[in-house]
Amino acid sequence: MNGNKWIRQIHRWLAIAFTVAALVVTVAVATQEEPPAVVYLSPLPPLALLLLTGLYLFALPYTAKRRAARRP
Ligand code: HEM
Repeated sequence: MNGNKWIRQIHRWLAIAFTVAALVVTVAVATQEEPPAVVYLSPLPPLALLLLTGLYLFALPYTAKRRAARRP
């Protein structure tokens, strides 16, 4: 498996982690007066990594085209 496939796989699993964390926060906010900070901030680390891996995935087609154009 090459690096690009790894990044895509990581992005996919981070999406699951983010979704689970967002659901946990939704339930916590609905059932508790004030959930602890660790709970309602828990979606942010996966979201930050999603942004980084997502921007990388976004750039891939453009960098691939540029590399292909440079080939003789
Ligand atoms: C935060 C900024 C994000 C950016 C910039 C971003 C960007 C991208 C890009 C460029 C792709 C590849 C599209 C393609 O080539 O077809 C992608 C795929 C995907 N993104 Fe994101 N994304 C972000 C956040 C999220 C979030 C919040 C979720 C879901 C909770 C998510 C779930 C997915 C999934 C499931 C895929 C398909 C992955 C696969 O190929 O298996 N992304 N994203």
